[in-house]
Amino acid sequence: MCGIFGCVLKEGNAAPVIRSSLKRLEYRGYDSVGIATISDGKIYLKKDQGKIDDVHKILNLDDLPGNIGIGHTRWATHGAPLKVNSHPHADCTGEIMVVHNGIIENFMALRTELQNLDHTFVSKTDTEVIPHLIEETLKENPKLSFVDAVQESLKRLEGSYALAIISTKEPDKIICARNESPLVLGINGNGVFCASDIPAFLPVTNKAVMVNNGELVILTAQGYEIKKIRDSSPVSREPVTIEWTAEMAVKQGYPHFMIKEIHEQPETLRNTLRMQEHYLDLLTTFLDRANEVFLVACGTSYHACLAASYMFSKLAFLPTYPVYASEFIEQHGKSVNIDSTILAVSQSGETADTIAAVTCAQQRAATILSLTNVIGSTLTRISRVYIGQQSGPEIGVAATKTFTSQLSVLAQLALRLAKKRGKVSQDEIDSLEENLDKLPDIVDTVVKTQEEKVKQIAKKYKDSKVFFFLGRGISTATAYEGRLKLMEIAYIPSIAFPAGESKHGPISLVENGFPVVFICPKDDSHKTLIGNIMEMKARGASIIAVVEEGDEEIKTLADEYVEVPKGIPSVLSPIPFAVPLQLLAYYVALEKGYNPDMPRNLAKSVTVK
Ligand code: G6P
Repeated sequence: MCGIFGCVLKEGNAAPVIRSSLKRLEYRGYDSVGIATISDGKIYLKKDQGKIDDVHKILNLDDLPGNIGIGHTRWATHGAPLKVNSHPHADCTGEIMVVHNGIIENFMALRTELQNLDHTFVSKTDTEVIPHLIEETLKENPKLSFVDAVQESLKRLEGSYALAIISTKEPDKIICARNESPLVLGINGNGVFCASDIPAFLPVTNKAVMVNNGELVILTAQGYEIKKIRDSSPVSREPVTIEWTAEMAVKQGYPHFMIKEIHEQPETLRNTLRMQEHYLDLLTTFLDRANEVFLVACGTSYHACLAASYMFSKLAFLPTYPVYASEFIEQHGKSVNIDSTILAVSQSGETADTIAAVTCAQQRAATILSLTNVIGSTLTRISRVYIGQQSGPEIGVAATKTFTSQLSVLAQLALRLAKKRGKVSQDEIDSLEENLDKLPDIVDTVVKTQEEKVKQIAKKYKDSKVFFFLGRGISTATAYEGRLKLMEIAYIPSIAFPAGESKHGPISLVENGFPVVFICPKDDSHKTLIGNIMEMKARGASIIAVVEEGDEEIKTLADEYVEVPKGIPSVLSPIPFAVPLQLLAYYVALEKGYNPDMPRNLAKSVTVK
């Protein structure tokens, strides 16, 4: 989830404006920074790995000449956070510079094609294919204008992008374009700006123009021209006035990062569906060969592992052992060996217990695989193969979007392994893949249609002294995650159990009005779960059920219910079913007057054991 920025000014140097604007986009990533400007028909470029201020101290980014330029702050997805992978990226001649946010899905095919045409690539990024593609398009059609060559090249890109492009060929303009990744223009008396997000230019203008998918924009000091990439048809769009303060803008108008990140899940889930096939295949190969697989993690990432253990077992017939990282050394430290495989899951890639567990297993020659949101983190450095979950930075301490992304990647891995092992029928695989593709829209529907309902439930139950969260099968993991969310930000003691275990102890707590949240996908456990609901009801519990749309049976039993679109396969159900629980925790915290972004005593990344 990188940040891009560009500006064409009537007066003054672009570089200092770009640097300070990128600084306001640093919440989108800060692995590396780069700025390219044009002055007297020549390109000037500075870039390096590291945060903007650190790189600026060494390189002085402000002294690039020229009134036009583009910049980038990076969240690494394809390629480690190194200088060579920093944006802007150039063509072979260095005359075309590109900054990009998004993922080019067909970059491997394009790269091979361009390499066969003698293009030299220096980075491992997907972005680098873009300047080379434009260069090649111009070579093949020398009569094309630069803008037309960009437009033709865009037609060949699959995936998501917000792009800003400059070239010495037409040195007075920036060309930008959008497909799925965010892009917005800013206008003031001294020029035009393009950015991933409004906060980038808010101190200099509150006049903004939204760019839509499939549009290309030409920026010059005189203004902007928007047209459709597909057929060049012109688009006329007037600026709107943004009323946000700078602080509101960083949160895109949401009051907290947590709720912004809950709402971002359709987008982050779309990104996780664009995983690099190559890494998925590699991980699958290692998992297929493994004798024993430990899924090692802490906190929310552990819940993703717990859910994954059901996915691997049900789809690929691979038994795996989810283990809390803090317990791994005590529990398995002596027995783990060269035949063991560890799949460590950590959003930050820095959690001390996870790193300690992995280091122990590594010293005993186990194979280390990992899934993380931070490429270049300690975990990626000690893993044999890792995969980035591509959720973008998460600022709220309570993990939300990174949880559903982890689940999506783990489900993709389980599916791949199932295919490789031939354990489930092609029809089932096709249907699961179709359902995975639908999940971003399903989550979107859940957020849009259920938020108000959850708010009311939060109001009603905010003073409860304790909550239960119960589910069966894979929904046990969802229940654990719902419990953790509520406990960590609303400070309500909460208990989660597999529903079948509730009568072996926890049920003794239940009295009139005791809130019990049931996670109820319509899967094999549905009938038995109804029995568990009845047991609780008989003792006076208030049932809050997360059900599939049209599940009249449970709806009539429940005191409150929240609905999730129907037809989601059980192994994928934790993704949409977790969303109402995230919302519940958020709104209960608000009702109680707490700041959900900064729960007391907790940290986003726990780097002590
Ligand atoms: C902390 C965070 C949690 C997170 C856990 C594991 O407790 O507050 O949100 O789930 O660490 O973090 P990791 O970065 O390893 O996923």
